[in-house]
Amino acid sequence: MSTTEVGSTTGVMAGSKPVTTGTTKAGWPLWKKLTLVGVILIVAIGLGVGLGVGLTRGNGDDDDSGSGDGDNSGDGDNSGDDDTNTNNTSVWQPAVGASWQIILKYPISLDDDSTDGLAPNVSIWDLDLYDNDISIFKALSDAGKHVICYFSAGSWEDWRDDAGDFADADLGKGLDGWEGEKWLNISSPAVRKIMKKRIKYASDKGCNAIDPDNVDGYQNENGLSLTKEDTISYVKFLSNEAAQYNMSTGLKNAGGIISDVLDYVHFSVNEQCIEYSECETFSAFIDADKPVFNIEYPSKAPKVSSSAKSEICSTSGNAAGSNKFSKVIKKMILDGWVEYCGTTKTYTTEVDKS
Ligand SMILES: *[C@@H]1O[C@H](CO)[C@@H](O)[C@H](O)[C@H]1NC(C)=O
Ligand SMILES: *[C@@H]1O[C@H](CO)[C@@H](O)[C@H](O)[C@H]1NC(C)=O
Ligand SMILES: *[C@@H]1O[C@H](CO)[C@@H](O)[C@H](O)[C@H]1NC(C)=O
Ligand SMILES: *[C@@H]1O[C@H](CO)[C@@H](O)[C@H](O)[C@H]1NC(C)=O
Ligand SMILES: *[C@@H]1O[C@H](CO)[C@@H](O)[C@H](O)[C@H]1NC(C)=O
Repeated sequence: MSTTEVGSTTGVMAGSKPVTTGTTKAGWPLWKKLTLVGVILIVAIGLGVGLGVGLTRGNGDDDDSGSGDGDNSGDGDNSGDDDTNTNNTSVWQPAVGASWQIILKYPISLDDDSTDGLAPNVSIWDLDLYDNDISIFKALSDAGKHVICYFSAGSWEDWRDDAGDFADADLGKGLDGWEGEKWLNISSPAVRKIMKKRIKYASDKGCNAIDPDNVDGYQNENGLSLTKEDTISYVKFLSNEAAQYNMSTGLKNAGGIISDVLDYVHFSVNEQCIEYSECETFSAFIDADKPVFNIEYPSKAPKVSSSAKSEICSTSGNAAGSNKFSKVIKKMILDGWVEYCGTTKTYTTEVDKS
C-alpha cells in the first residue's frame, strides 16, 4: 500500500483563482474599468459553471435519469456528497473490543424466529444482506443485538438479483480467485445509483450498519485504472449514504486509506492482518475509539493448532498492533464455525444450507 498522497486539487485550485483577478488599478479610463468588470464577470460565471459541473460529477449523485430510483425522500438530494461529513449523526458506534460473529456463506437459521438457541451469544452479527430473511434481522434486533449487513460494493456478482442492472462498460477484470465476480467502476454514477438502492434495501431490512466489501480495487489488477482517490471518494459516498438511513459504515481492509476516511467510518472489518503482520496499520481505529473486527483464517481450521492460535491471540510478533481487536478465527468460506481467543470452546452457529 502506498503512503504517498495525491491530494485531489482541482476544487481548491478553481476556488483560489478569483483572488488574483481582483487587482484593479486606479486612474484607468471608464471604458477600461467597464471592460475589466465584464471580463471578471465572465471569468466568475465560467468558474461558477465549471465548479458546479465539477461538484456534480464528484457527487456521482446527479439523478439524471429521473427514473424514480427509490431515492430516500426529503434529504434535499445532498446524499452521497463526498465532502459532507455526516459523522456527527446519531448512528450506532460499536464499542472497541465488542464480540461478534460473521457468516457469509449461508443464512443463519433460527427456530421459530427465536434467538434462544443461538450460539455463540455475541452482540454483533455480520451477515449477508441478501441471503438472510428480514425475519432473521428482526429477531436479532428484538434480542438487543446489532446487525451489520454485508454486500459487495466494489465488485459485480453474477448471481445477484440486480446483476443485470450494471452496464457492461462499468465492469472490469475478474476478481482473482472469486468465480463470477468482476471489479466495478466505483466512480460511475450508474454504479453508485445501484449502491444507493442496496443501501436503502439494507435500511428497509433493519440493518444497523453496512459492511461494503471490495472497495480497494485500486490495490488489485482491476482493468479500470481505479485510483486510491476513487476509493476514498467511494467510501465517503457509501458512508454518507448509509448515514442518511441512520446506519453506520465499516471499512473493509483498505489499509492504505485509513487516515483519509477514518472520520467517515465507524469500524474496521479486517482480514488476516495478523497473517500479514499489518495490524499496526489498523490500530488507528482503536486509537480513534472504533473497533477492529479482525478475521484470521488459519490453514487447518477448524483444527487450529495451539501454536497458530497463540500467535493469533497474542499482541506481539506477527500480531503486534492487534491490542483490543475483536478477533475471530474462521474458515475461509465463512460458514457457521468460529473460535475465539480466551476460550478453548468453539461454536457452530446453525445455518440454513438448503
Ligand atoms: C453536523 O454538523 C453540521 C456541520 O457542522 C451541522 O450543521 C449539523 O447541525 C450537525 N448535525 C448534528 C446532528 O449534530
Ligand atoms: C439511530 O440509531 C441510533 C443507534 O442505533 C439510535 O439510538 C437512534 O435513536 C437512531 N436515530 C434515529 C433518528 O432513528
Ligand atoms: C447473552 O449475553 C447477554 C449479554 O452479556 C446476557 O445478558 C444474556 O443473559 C446471555 N444469554 C445467554 C442465553 O447466555
Ligand atoms: C469510470 O467512471 C468515470 C465516471 O463516469 C469515468 O470518468 C471513467 O472514464 C470510467 N472509467 C472507465 C475505465 O470506464
Ligand atoms: C468526525 O469528524 C471530525 C472532523 O472531520 C473529527 O474530528 C471527529 O473525530 C469525527 N468523529 C468521529 C466520531 O469519527
